[in-house]
Amino acid sequence: MCGIVGITSNKQVISPIINSLRKLEYRGYDSAGIATLNQGFINEVKCEGRVNALEKNLLKSKLEGTVGIGHVRWATHGAPSTINAHPHSSEKVSVVHNGIIENSTILKKFLIKKGHKFKSQTDTEVIVHLITEYLKKNDLKKTIIKVLKKLHGSFALGIIFKDYPDMIVGARRGSPLAVGYGPNENYLGSDSYALKTMTNKISYLNDGEFCILKNNSVEFFNDIGNKINKKILELSENNENYDKGDFKHFMAKEIEEQPVTIKNCVKEYVDKINNDINIFNFPWKVNEISSIVLIGCGTAFHSCLMAKYWFENFTTLDVSVDIASEFRYRKNKFKKDALYVFVSQSGETADTYASLDLCNKNKMKTCSIVNVVESSIARDSKFVLPIHCGPEIGVASTKAFLGQMLVLYILSLKISFMRKDIDKETYVNKIKSLFTLSDLIKKTLETDSKTQLVCNSFVDIKGSMFLGRGYSYPIALEGALKLKELSYVHAEGYPAGEMKHGPLALIEEGMPVVVIAPRDEYYTKTISNMQEVIARGAKVLLITNKSKDEIYSENIWEYIEVENTTDDLLPFLITIPLQKLAYYSALKKGYDIDKPRNLAKSVTVE
Ligand code: AGP
Repeated sequence: MCGIVGITSNKQVISPIINSLRKLEYRGYDSAGIATLNQGFINEVKCEGRVNALEKNLLKSKLEGTVGIGHVRWATHGAPSTINAHPHSSEKVSVVHNGIIENSTILKKFLIKKGHKFKSQTDTEVIVHLITEYLKKNDLKKTIIKVLKKLHGSFALGIIFKDYPDMIVGARRGSPLAVGYGPNENYLGSDSYALKTMTNKISYLNDGEFCILKNNSVEFFNDIGNKINKKILELSENNENYDKGDFKHFMAKEIEEQPVTIKNCVKEYVDKINNDINIFNFPWKVNEISSIVLIGCGTAFHSCLMAKYWFENFTTLDVSVDIASEFRYRKNKFKKDALYVFVSQSGETADTYASLDLCNKNKMKTCSIVNVVESSIARDSKFVLPIHCGPEIGVASTKAFLGQMLVLYILSLKISFMRKDIDKETYVNKIKSLFTLSDLIKKTLETDSKTQLVCNSFVDIKGSMFLGRGYSYPIALEGALKLKELSYVHAEGYPAGEMKHGPLALIEEGMPVVVIAPRDEYYTKTISNMQEVIARGAKVLLITNKSKDEIYSENIWEYIEVENTTDDLLPFLITIPLQKLAYYSALKKGYDIDKPRNLAKSVTVE
């Protein structure tokens, strides 16, 4: 989603702003722009499309300046176009914005009456005119306080002013914003990743706060303008490789990295010598918890759904799962003995954050499972379990999904053992199996050639279905999500047993249907459901695990066999061919795999 960069310096800022915008490209965007203040004038250069196109326009325009703001836009109000791209400027002010101003129509009416002329269809432009209007009668600080109060909705803002030459104002409500500190320059960014090439010293704005950056000072204020102090955090100097290397796409790289990321994560949490799980400093006694609520969006929601099966199988806890965008607006019955678990790769997803905030406000026990440990969700949770899988750049979540599932699996085992819901022998055996998982994933990645072959049948189709029962049901949902988001094919994930209740009507002659049926306790039931779709003309791709037992079924179009392991770890292996199926289908179609249309990596608006 939209990304913001701001730099105030004693040197030229165009090239570092471009470098930081490139770091924000992973979020998914459709247009880009930069505005600077130079010799008393605000100038902007914008374009539809990518940062490369913006760079070309900048060369032509010769934009210069030691204070500037940059933006990559993911359209909410108004189509992707140069005119709607940020920054939006008046003669006096220029603004970049991430978020949604919900009362923009009312504010626009008020401003038009005052004589303001609008150029774009965006909600952001009202902020520009509102600031311009208030500056007529107020000083800068008062203007900011008054304008922020007028805005409904969510925002992270970067603002430069004609009459305050070396200054950038940043403000946050809902959408994340970081401040970075450098030598004779200071920075604003949507996340610390965008600023990492310039600094490892970071502070984060909390909701309602704003900041004033100059090249030699940074000040923070609360919503009524009182000065506040901020901790300066030092980001870890990691040497993680953000390049694609020899891979064509980040997604391909991230799929292949999974044996390593899983190995690293197991190492972080599992004590091989004592066959125990290390979850240190868990802030609650296990007998204070009698239910668990798992919350996330998209792929993270699927890992929550998966975890429900593990928690229910291993523990006697009540388990419920919720989509964050629903949870945050429902009339929830908050229970003191519930543990609320928030799952998010980015740690910035607006709906997941809002759900966490709601639980915190109701004084609940909150725990997050995140990839980005400096994220808002990690910072505001009472307890954090990182998934240790390194940066995930491809919009389609792959290694983070496996990482989320792994940490949830580990948490379910630990809690069940602490509660004495499972005995020591079962606990130790399950831990031992975890050490085999990385190699099994590596071997399963070898199903690659088969997946490349079958993907041809998923390219030019009207639609497809992914069916599974039990542990395979969340994986079916995830397989369908991957196919639809990457190759823009309509795909539905369904519990295999539910087909007769409606979806069977969709099956047509030759329709490709993926049936996920590992040889677990649901196997025979799923195979029966598979026969029902084959009988109605479906072309079935069966995904199962290797076994000495033959597959007792005829007329299967194709099958892929993953390695063999315990029932509860099979979902990790089954996911691999589904990731590859989506990848290769999109590759055949020549689509933008790392940045699928209309999507963003970090969904910071609701
Ligand atoms: C999955 O491939 C998607 N990119 C999407 O569903 C994603 O999982 C969702 O937006 C949640 O993101 P988060 O994990 O960063 O919270």
